[in-house]
Amino acid sequence: MAIPKEQLDSVKERVIQIVSQNGAKEEALLQILHDIQADDNSLSEAELLQVARALDIPLSRVYGVATFYSLYSVQPRGKFIIRICESAPCHIVGARAVISAFEEALGIKMGETTTDGKFTLEATSCLGVCGVAPAVMINDEVYGNLTPDKVVEVLAEYDADEA
Ligand code: FES
Repeated sequence: MAIPKEQLDSVKERVIQIVSQNGAKEEALLQILHDIQADDNSLSEAELLQVARALDIPLSRVYGVATFYSLYSVQPRGKFIIRICESAPCHIVGARAVISAFEEALGIKMGETTTDGKFTLEATSCLGVCGVAPAVMINDEVYGNLTPDKVVEVLAEYDADEA
């Protein structure tokens, strides 16, 4: 399906700027996609196509990379990505209860985004902070030793912060 010209035009300038910052070569593709995704936590079709054009590589290659790595998403996601560790050390000390608390507080299931586009819940493997299990990461911020009660406190920070 063709992407409307207005959509392509609306992302073109930013994509070209990011590509030129990273170097217009395929080796920079991962970093380019990372930088483009930084604004809204997802990659649109228009952005992927503009990247393919700027690097002069097939769209299928860009799309393949964007869908291969869990770091990237071609589905719209929330402003805040809540990644909940489900690896064994976190699982053993209560990750399941933490997941339930987030799902209940936000009214969504794992893999979903709140209707206001604010939060997305995702599962992840070990975040490298097993000493404070169970742990989650919200965008770049790590939270450890979580309990269902603490989940409510953590989310309250984002309500207070939210612009
Ligand atoms: S197992 Fe959860 S942070 Fe390592």
